[in-house]
Amino acid sequence: MVLCNLVALFTASITVSGAHIMQELDEAVTIGATVPTGFEHTAAEEVQEKLEATARVSKNRGRIYFDITTDTLFKVHQLKSLDNLFVVVKDYDDYQFKTTKEEVQLDWQELAAKLPWTNALEVWKLNNSIKKRKGRRKRTNPTKSDQCGNFSTKSTDTVPSDPEELWVDLESLEVKENQRDVSSQPEDDSEEEKHSEIQDQESGVTPLKFRVTCNRAGDKHCFTSNDAARDFGGAVQEFFQWKADMTKFDVEVLLNIHNNEVVVGLALTVESLHRRNISHFGPTTLRSTLAYGMLRLCKPQVSDVIVDPMCGTGAIPLEGVMEWQNSFFLAGDNSGTAVSRSVNNIKHILKRTHDGGSSSGLPLDIVQWDLCNLPMRSSSVDIIITDMPFGKRMGSKKKNWELYPLCLREMARVCKPGTGKAVLLTQDKKCFLKALSQMEGLWRKSHTVWVNVGGLHAGVFVLKRTAVVFGTTSEDVMEPHTATGSQKENMKDASQ
Ligand SMILES: C[S@@+](CC[C@H](N)C(=O)[O-])C[C@H]1O[C@@H](n2cnc3c(N)ncnc32)[C@H](O)[C@@H]1O
Repeated sequence: MVLCNLVALFTASITVSGAHIMQELDEAVTIGATVPTGFEHTAAEEVQEKLEATARVSKNRGRIYFDITTDTLFKVHQLKSLDNLFVVVKDYDDYQFKTTKEEVQLDWQELAAKLPWTNALEVWKLNNSIKKRKGRRKRTNPTKSDQCGNFSTKSTDTVPSDPEELWVDLESLEVKENQRDVSSQPEDDSEEEKHSEIQDQESGVTPLKFRVTCNRAGDKHCFTSNDAARDFGGAVQEFFQWKADMTKFDVEVLLNIHNNEVVVGLALTVESLHRRNISHFGPTTLRSTLAYGMLRLCKPQVSDVIVDPMCGTGAIPLEGVMEWQNSFFLAGDNSGTAVSRSVNNIKHILKRTHDGGSSSGLPLDIVQWDLCNLPMRSSSVDIIITDMPFGKRMGSKKKNWELYPLCLREMARVCKPGTGKAVLLTQDKKCFLKALSQMEGLWRKSHTVWVNVGGLHAGVFVLKRTAVVFGTTSEDVMEPHTATGSQKENMKDASQ
């Protein structure tokens, strides 16, 4: 009976329209979020600060959970640390998996009928009314089941290193959806499909379309993520009488398994929220969420001068300027293409915020420069924050041996002695630590946050500028064979 009511509730409500406004739930619901690995505590801090909710950091790295009442759901979408959002249907800290594949399969089937779906589905509907979902993926890698008829799943056996594959940005979609309303339908919507959708809507019975995505980590399971997604998905289909659809789904059911921790959820975002500021991407564009985490480590203060000397497409300064508008940001790169991309990204943001594309709207300037010879006064910068070339996709490890000491030296020159800070991201740890050890008089390492950048294990090094005045220590003087023309000039300046 309960089953019938639940099914009726959700087949009926979808016929009204995607913008069906739900009543707010009085009860708290648990929201799960994926965050850049290593920045879980930074994300929890933001949740506490902006929602006054205490977040739990999952054993499964890169995830946090927190309780909200539904009237604050829209605020969750505005958090800067979170990549993907989902509402938790049920979580199990210590799920007792059976030992054979057959038993586990039976278990998944029973689980679907046992889960408390109602509140999570209400949140899912409320979420649709806050932001329109697209429900269509351009890049998918479907795995079709041969055991459940037309049922399809998506699964990964480890946490995906780049969850962007799984989601599309809601904010930008809202614009695109509106544009589509007045222009044209997507090319791949066949007439037949459109017709059958209209017919369904007219007849008043449109079963929801869904898919199950399973992320699994752990080596003690007797099943793959594919097995779990297929078996659990089959049971969900049977329970709700929903229609499985890999690409044009309304609901994405998430099955997250990390050793014995199992979390069943419903996705609330279609694309990672990390793409929010960037329209012109480069080869190594940093996720906005990671940029935000790095910026939080700096603790920017009102009127701080904050410099990203290797800004690429500008992910860090753009994130900074959107959140800390009372600081002044200056960014540069030695590549003209990178500088153009940054400028275009600023223009795009300004257009989006109805500023007509004039650059006067943001406290941010972009300059083409060589970091090793910055056109800036000594001791004029409060914070240096940058994502250095790792020497893989950008630059080379060999060049880093020369570049890193020069960077640290020039950064020390422009940074305020005693109070200045630097937050530097690199995967070339050996080279960085060696360079840093040569600059001990100028920089002190405060701490390191280890992060995952596109599957690479990288460090965010938080440095403090010592009180030593630049030009008074042996570190400022470069070895003659490594100094370039511009460094020799700087050395002259420093000694003057
Ligand atoms: C890892 S990328 C930065 C990516 C950036 N965070 C983004 O979101 O696009 C490093 C950047 O350093 C720049 N770079 C390398 N050597 C430089 C130098 N000597 N001066 C200024 N920029 C430099 C490269 O052109 C590249 O854009």
